[in-house]
Amino acid sequence: MSLILAGNWKLNKSPKEAEAFAKEFLQKTSQSLQSQTLIFPSAISFVSVSEAFESSSIGFGFQNIATQDSGAYTGENSAAMSKELGATHVLIGHSERRKLYAETNKDVNEKIQLALKNYLVPVICIGETLEERQKNITNDVLKRQLKEGLEGIQFTSAPIIAYEPVWAIGTGEVATPEQANSAHECIKSYLPELISSEIANKIKVLYGGSVKPANAKELGAQKNIDGFLVGGASLKVESFLGIGEHCV
Ligand code: PGA
Repeated sequence: MSLILAGNWKLNKSPKEAEAFAKEFLQKTSQSLQSQTLIFPSAISFVSVSEAFESSSIGFGFQNIATQDSGAYTGENSAAMSKELGATHVLIGHSERRKLYAETNKDVNEKIQLALKNYLVPVICIGETLEERQKNITNDVLKRQLKEGLEGIQFTSAPIIAYEPVWAIGTGEVATPEQANSAHECIKSYLPELISSEIANKIKVLYGGSVKPANAKELGAQKNIDGFLVGGASLKVESFLGIGEHCV
């Protein structure tokens, strides 16, 4: 079964750079894409990149949304606004948002509800820090993030979960296939305790954290890994497509 390939550009690529990426990407992929591909550009580059990719099957999303629909919240973008621009997905609770912007599981919960209300597929990011892994509490951390993040939400369609160990993000240090697979297994077996098993069984769990063409094959071969959320290696067409080769 093909894997989902998602690129998180973070605070990179101006509108012009994003457009150049799209042109190069389309030149290098003559055939239609075999795997589901998603790109999360900066909000400012969203229109230029989604327009440049218009005739392709790629989906686009914002990297974050506000916890409110509208109002006096300087600097924020709402789920409804992102939907209006053509977003299909949205990243929620990325570890950089949690760490640098003090985002809590409660914020994550509110953002998921707003995403669903606006027919966006939430890509819910969870993961443990190095200290938590060393204390052997990885599974407890993941379960708490899921419990508080999903609490009380009635899903009528499946969200996506991204497991991203914080210690592997942007560090070059990747989780071993066994570590990633075991975390994904924990997530998948816990989800039916939180939401209907019908929806839970449809949830895809992506791995993120220093994914590169060189490690994607082995990671992608793991039973419980359904795709990748890629940061650094999604910024160059060659490496993004190099990972994509292992997603078909
Ligand atoms: P990385 O980032 O691939 O650069 O480690 C992944 C992410 O933060 O989504």
